[in-house]
Amino acid sequence: MLKRITVSAPGKLILFGEHAVVYGKPCIVTSVEQRVQVEASFNGVNELVINAPQMGIRNYVKKLKDLGSQEMPKQVAFIEALVRRFAQKYGLKRGLNITTKADFSHTVGFGSSSAVTIAAAYALKSLYQVKLEDKKMFDLCFQAVLDIQGVGSGFDLAAALWGGTLFYTRGAKVVKSLDISHLPILVGYSGIKADTPTLVRQVAELKYKKPKLVNSVFNKIENIVIKANKALICQDWPEVGKLMQQNQKLLEALGVSTNKLEKLIKASIKAGAYGAKLSGAGGGDCIIALVDENKKQAVKKAINSSGGQVMRVRLNTKGAIC
Ligand code: MEV
Repeated sequence: MLKRITVSAPGKLILFGEHAVVYGKPCIVTSVEQRVQVEASFNGVNELVINAPQMGIRNYVKKLKDLGSQEMPKQVAFIEALVRRFAQKYGLKRGLNITTKADFSHTVGFGSSSAVTIAAAYALKSLYQVKLEDKKMFDLCFQAVLDIQGVGSGFDLAAALWGGTLFYTRGAKVVKSLDISHLPILVGYSGIKADTPTLVRQVAELKYKKPKLVNSVFNKIENIVIKANKALICQDWPEVGKLMQQNQKLLEALGVSTNKLEKLIKASIKAGAYGAKLSGAGGGDCIIALVDENKKQAVKKAINSSGGQVMRVRLNTKGAIC
């Protein structure tokens, strides 16, 4: 019987369709080669023991019968919620140790929580030898994430599980892999950590107050995502860049962009990018800029001198693996 397993899952970057995807519209997400590793093993006691040293968690212990109860640090919440959901469905007869390690900081918005949730689910399924097909594993992880965050579309879980670049709708109702080999995108970190649930709730409030406006923005975003899907497959970069610009304007209309993000976006365009936009919930995190090889250095320089930090990332990478 397997006693120990290590699984890794990639982070994500959303290319098109953020916020609208929470309301059933499609988005396009790509996986990033900055990964999260989860090592899991049986421990012979009826406890879940978590170590996440990069997040300041050492020997966090919870009795299996108490999973999900009592206060828990944010850094272990997703794993504990996942283990609890897994235990409810499949039963846990033996306790386990889980240790996590990430190639990236949880502050940059690459989806460390979703990657850790998927990697942990994959590890649990292998350790306890449960037959769990991908969609069922996704559903379990999505429930766990909603237990903690309350809101979300699950797009980040899809990127962590399946990898590549995906056309996606909420709850993995539609997941289509885009057959692309090249994605000339630069990523600039704004230096500000965004809080996704807060921004999602902010948009929900605006939708409640101004339903006509927000629904019309979401419909426009949907059209952009459908066009972007085609343009990405055809590698029509001028068209993809134009659609990024349009998507950015609509995110500004939703009130989730910031001066800092717009400064980085403008600097990228001025330096020769085809297009640029914020990526994620807004409020901070990253921008993405679509850039030809011969303009790369100029755009990097522009992002750095505007107060951003160019991130070294490889996109469109493999999903969860053990
Ligand atoms: C956040 O990265 C993207 C949002 O659409 C939230 C989600 O889809 O879960 C704002």
